[in-house]
Amino acid sequence: MYLLIKHSHVTLAALSITFFVIRAFWSVRQSPYLALRWVRIGPHIIDSLLLACAIYLMVSINQYPFTTPWLTAKFLALVLYIGLGTVAIKRGRTATIRFAFALGAIAVFGYIVGAAVNHSYWSWW
Ligand code: HEM
Repeated sequence: MYLLIKHSHVTLAALSITFFVIRAFWSVRQSPYLALRWVRIGPHIIDSLLLACAIYLMVSINQYPFTTPWLTAKFLALVLYIGLGTVAIKRGRTATIRFAFALGAIAVFGYIVGAAVNHSYWSWW
């Protein structure tokens, strides 16, 4: 069961960044696709399932943010990823700002994957 949930967590993470990149592209191009219902709701469903799997995994290995450093790093980086992503897709006033914040969000996502794989807040370093 643990492995199934872990694979689901990783698959959902891959879906999350894939949809993010597509939506960020549409946001920079001011595409009307961004306003579609499934485009607005889909990411919330994916991200909620991603977090639900994360909670299952944490309970299973009995390690949590603010007690286990790499999970603290993952949690804080996730908050940053969401913040940068909101500017990239919604709040950024110009296309340049939205593009810059999208790149930042993708970099933070890369950091999160490194922290997960290496179980260290040094991530890929
Ligand atoms: C964008 C967000 C996230 C991404 C990209 C991500 C990515 C990953 C990846 C790639 C793994 C597999 C690591 C391996 O090779 O063993 C993993 C495992 C895990 N993740 Fe996440 N994760 C995210 C969010 C979170 C959050 C917010 C938490 C909890 C604070 C969390 C908790 C865990 C736990 C407990 C494991 C299992 C580690 C193990 O079995 O050794 N993840 N995550």
